[in-house]
Amino acid sequence: MVSFGTTVASGRLAIDTLFKVIEAECPDREIRIAYTSNIIRRKLNKSEGGTIDSPQIALAKMRDQGFSHVTVVSTHIIPGKEYGDLQELIRGTDAVTGKYGFSRLVLLEPFLYRQDDFERFVRGLQESYGESGDAHRAVVLMGHGSYHFANAAYSQLQIMLDREDDRFVIGTVEGMPTLDDVRRRLRSMKVTRVTLAPCMVVAGDHAMNDMAGFDDDSWATILRRDGYDVNPVLTGLGELPWMGEMLAQKFRFVDDEV
Ligand code: CO
Repeated sequence: MVSFGTTVASGRLAIDTLFKVIEAECPDREIRIAYTSNIIRRKLNKSEGGTIDSPQIALAKMRDQGFSHVTVVSTHIIPGKEYGDLQELIRGTDAVTGKYGFSRLVLLEPFLYRQDDFERFVRGLQESYGESGDAHRAVVLMGHGSYHFANAAYSQLQIMLDREDDRFVIGTVEGMPTLDDVRRRLRSMKVTRVTLAPCMVVAGDHAMNDMAGFDDDSWATILRRDGYDVNPVLTGLGELPWMGEMLAQKFRFVDDEV
């Protein structure tokens, strides 16, 4: 099971929740965790004694230990750079035949890949954050965002949310829409209260600091300065049951092809 990783202890809850989802799908199989972030892995391995591998090392170890069939569970939201790099690794590894290759190596799609995924995702966000009965409250979701073209997934998500519920506003830390786009949209909505939640699997460093932090440049601070009553929620999407259901479905889809 591959994720970006997190150094925030409470952020690990989302990864552990999704781990249990996959464990329930195949209780007879071994599940290993790999982090794609070099910085996070090096930091954790220094303090925990080298327990978390990169996907590359995890696969090499598994082949070396005699595993022949591997399903790689990605916990990425968009098919961006991180997912693309993982895909490259899987393609390259799968091209190896003979003694050093696997008999079967498959990779799950990211959460937002097919039209159905977006529909399920929108329903999930509504389940988790939609009903407040408060006409003056907006829900601002902070996605990670990317320079990669897959970042357009956030705009698609916004369009699809708009069809169902005009209270949701999506922004990203590192891509588009930006926080200024979010603020412009909020101004047109005549709301006074804002629920601020991560649109990321893990509520880690971005959620704790860039979103909910007390620094001058956090989203919570800036939105408070704009006059809103801001309520930050530090729940990673991975902790929500509907995300687990989505992952289990994606798992069954590739795993059943055997
Ligand atoms: Co980041």
